[in-house]
Amino acid sequence: MKNIAAIVLAAGKGTRMKSKLPKVLHKVSGKPMIFYPVQALKDLRVESTVIVVGHGSEQVREALPDKDLGFCEQSPQLGTGHAVMSAMPSLSGSKGEVLILSGDVPLITKNTLRALLRIHRRSTKGVKGRAVEHPVISVISVLMDDPAGYGRVVRDGHDRVCGVVEDKDLAPSQRSICEVNTGIYLIDMAFLKTNLKKLDTKNKQKEYYLPDLITLAYAQGKRVKAFTLLDSEEVMGVNNRFELARANMFMRERINEEHMFAGVTFTDPSTAYIDNGVKIGEDVVIYPNVHLSGATTVGAGSVIEEGVKITDSRIGRDAVIKSHSVVESSVLADEVQAGPFARLRPGTRIKKAARIGNFVEVKNATLGPGVKAGHLSYLGDAVIGKDVNIGAGTIICNYDGVKKHKTHIKDNVFVGSDSQLVSPVTIGKGAYIGSGSTITKDVPAGALAISRSAQKVILGWAVKRDELLAVSSSPLKKSSKK
Ligand code: UD1
Ligand code: CA
Repeated sequence: MKNIAAIVLAAGKGTRMKSKLPKVLHKVSGKPMIFYPVQALKDLRVESTVIVVGHGSEQVREALPDKDLGFCEQSPQLGTGHAVMSAMPSLSGSKGEVLILSGDVPLITKNTLRALLRIHRRSTKGVKGRAVEHPVISVISVLMDDPAGYGRVVRDGHDRVCGVVEDKDLAPSQRSICEVNTGIYLIDMAFLKTNLKKLDTKNKQKEYYLPDLITLAYAQGKRVKAFTLLDSEEVMGVNNRFELARANMFMRERINEEHMFAGVTFTDPSTAYIDNGVKIGEDVVIYPNVHLSGATTVGAGSVIEEGVKITDSRIGRDAVIKSHSVVESSVLADEVQAGPFARLRPGTRIKKAARIGNFVEVKNATLGPGVKAGHLSYLGDAVIGKDVNIGAGTIICNYDGVKKHKTHIKDNVFVGSDSQLVSPVTIGKGAYIGSGSTITKDVPAGALAISRSAQKVILGWAVKRDELLAVSSSPLKKSSKK
């Protein structure tokens, strides 16, 4: 978009959050809240974007690794007007208008910003061919039932915007004004350059207030346009944890709605926590209390049952992740079934149609197609071939106390229940491991390995035991003990 530069204000401490973390890095649907206004500007293709950083500036820069973004430091932080002053040297070559957003207004959309631009530019053309004066500022305002905390938009007797008064500076008669400033402005660059230096700190907070530019414009007889939104959700500011939770709730509704329109069924969308950027195929069914986070994708037709948490993982098509399973940095192919209560830790690769049952933990291991590990196992640092059967309670003992070692189980192996495979060890193709074995040496293909001790049977033992017990508990025996 030509002749539009952008500034995102993100230097403030965010005192009301009561946090060590800079406010704009608190997360909304898995991303730091500043990610969203920055993304909206990217979608709009503005010519350049400068982020004003100050409090926790290193952390904020790290959270926005995009090399197209410019940064400038504001130190000390003397208010929103001062923040824009700090950004001006970075925009010395820019012409036209500058779009100013706050890093703490995460729900803003590119469509609303585009509408602001359209309305601003249309206002410059005038009505019915009659030229009207170019507005020097267009500001997004909104009517709020509870405007507490926001700057109020003040209008003159002709309903023209003549200023913004901060909550802390309100006169008693202004308290009832419910049109608020959203902190989103489109400002004529030339006007900005000449008027920023006129801001002062004569207010309750002793800060340079950016919205005072509106008062200055009005005093100079210039036009200010307020673009009033009907929906206040999108422009809510996040200043404390309560507002953070509300912003998360709204963002979650927005994300879930998009997935529903794209063919995903949610049995209870109000309890589905899907991060920004998660991809879900058509006909996926998501049960209550599911968390899908980070770079996660779920293939078409899969079912994610209640209480499942999946992070940074790829789930294929027609897979079923059963109740209360946890999947992290793993890749599960089509038709895999896992859980209930499976724990798939980083580095897990499960191939087509394999089945992982309850209380099975897998870490840094590849399980071939058709593998079955139904119950209570630990499979760590292993490569397991196709159609291998892992009996209940099998443990791969991958750690000797110093180093991790690898186990290889080739195709079609049958591991009997309650076996331990002490790594490093290789079980050859089609071999059998007898239940209860502790395997410490390689097993050749097609062999049976069994390492449990031979069974002993003592006939009549139970009767003898009863007799012994009867003698030891007789009164005679007891008194003789005294
Ligand atoms: C601001 C507006 C208020 C508006 C509200 C909308 C001012 C004076 N007030 O109030 O009219 O209703 O937003 O959400 O502008 N920041 C800096 N440097 C500073 C101070 C702030 O970069 O020195 C940044 C903050 O990091 C934040 C943004 O500016 O991202 C807004 O600052 P904040 O202190 O939250 O202003 P509000 O009190 O919410
Ligand atoms: Ca704010």
